[in-house]
Amino acid sequence: MENCRKQKYFLQVFGCQMNFHDGEKIAGVLEKMGYVRADTPEEADVVLLNTCCVRENAENRLYGHLGNLKPLKINNPELIIGVGGCMTQLPTVRATIEADYPYIDLLFGAFNIHQIPELIMKIRETGSRILDVPGEGEMEEDLPVKRESPFQAWVTVIYGCNNFCTYCIVPYVRGREKSRRPEKILMEIRELAAAGVKEVTLLGQNVNSYGLDFPVEERTDFADLLAAVNTVDGIARIRFQTSHPKDLSDKLIRQMAEAEKVCEHLHLPLQAGSDKILKLMNRKYTRDDYLRLVDKLRSRIPEIALTTDLIVGFPGEEEADFQDTLDMVKKVGFDAAFTFAYSPRVGTQAAKLTNQVPEAEKMDRLYRLIEVVNQQAKAANRRLEGTVQTILVEGPSPKKKEIYAGRTRGNKLVLFAPPAGAAGLTGKELNVRIRKGLTYTLQGEVVE
Ligand code: SAH
Ligand code: SF4
Ligand code: F3S
Repeated sequence: MENCRKQKYFLQVFGCQMNFHDGEKIAGVLEKMGYVRADTPEEADVVLLNTCCVRENAENRLYGHLGNLKPLKINNPELIIGVGGCMTQLPTVRATIEADYPYIDLLFGAFNIHQIPELIMKIRETGSRILDVPGEGEMEEDLPVKRESPFQAWVTVIYGCNNFCTYCIVPYVRGREKSRRPEKILMEIRELAAAGVKEVTLLGQNVNSYGLDFPVEERTDFADLLAAVNTVDGIARIRFQTSHPKDLSDKLIRQMAEAEKVCEHLHLPLQAGSDKILKLMNRKYTRDDYLRLVDKLRSRIPEIALTTDLIVGFPGEEEADFQDTLDMVKKVGFDAAFTFAYSPRVGTQAAKLTNQVPEAEKMDRLYRLIEVVNQQAKAANRRLEGTVQTILVEGPSPKKKEIYAGRTRGNKLVLFAPPAGAAGLTGKELNVRIRKGLTYTLQGEVVE
């Protein structure tokens, strides 16, 4: 008789929403194979890491994690350890793992998630490592997905990136843009709605290029896709990420304003506020282009929340360029921003530039930037005080069980005391009056 204990997997995911959504697919294929989730790597038969390489510290952290797994393998030689995700697309990483981490059994990529079960079986049968990773290929369409939430779901609309911003490794590790067929996307969203999902987030490195890679006679675009998703019964909220400013069309802005389910929030990465740096980054817009977009967005969608990504210390960035970034943050008054110190990535154009900014200078700019971003975020949140906002309740707050958390359509986290008998609130929409706007959250109270 075979051992009847169910095999367990432990999965840890790093990086962006796309990687987390891939994680849901990895979990999906493993659970379909009969695996159950383990809470710790110690109790797992298979440990998988889904990695990110967008910045250097991500890479260093991976090796730290791998080091921590070594004792587990010594205790349990049957354990299979696999590494997937964007890092496995880098030849240097593959070579390091092959040579220096002999206890790693498996490498896999986003293009062969569907093969994970058969690869694990092969390793068990042969006892040998499998370390080749397909760099590109057809994305499997009908993978089982183990969704993290019953009422919110990610849906990929376009894979890859063609933009080659000079600092960015993503186009090298995620391949070229490839849109999913609209009928497949709509079918998936209809099934999600039937299963009780209220909010979908459409995912892509640049959703604004959606459909442009189809043959001419089948061309469609992201605005049309939004209009179609807006008609799906049961879905209450539509979000999407990420948009590139260079491709944010008037048609899309109009559609965002007209489609009532599309939330009043746009994540529009600015990256830098100086035209000189934007050009070196190959972003293909100027600060004035960006400000014009913001004006258009706010005139069509007055209550829209705007969030962004910012990088400091790109090669050649001088104090005056950095001041331009601070100035843009103040001019736009972002609701929130992710801020990063530039991290050179081998293989990208910017890593070859010789005028790299010293680390201490980058850190100094980063802290100064965060201060201005936080001031703006707090001011934006304070402007909401006294207003009534519809939130989608996400459940008890992770830190304090007696406080509940939900998100406004502008994607702001609202903390509130649930009314008596709140058990059924999670996943429902609810009106709250905003009492206080803080830097990262709002405090609200339920209105009848
Ligand atoms: N496709 C998305 C996001 C890509 S990665 C977009 O175009 O906006 C997420 C963010 O990481 C980027 O927006 C950028 O701000 C940051 N980033 C990318 N490469 C980086 C690097 N080499 N150093 C520092 N930050 C980087
Ligand atoms: Fe990277 Fe630019 Fe593509 Fe975003 S658009 S993934 S920043 S290359
Ligand atoms: Fe990282 Fe890959 Fe996403 S490099 S940011 S996980 S696309």
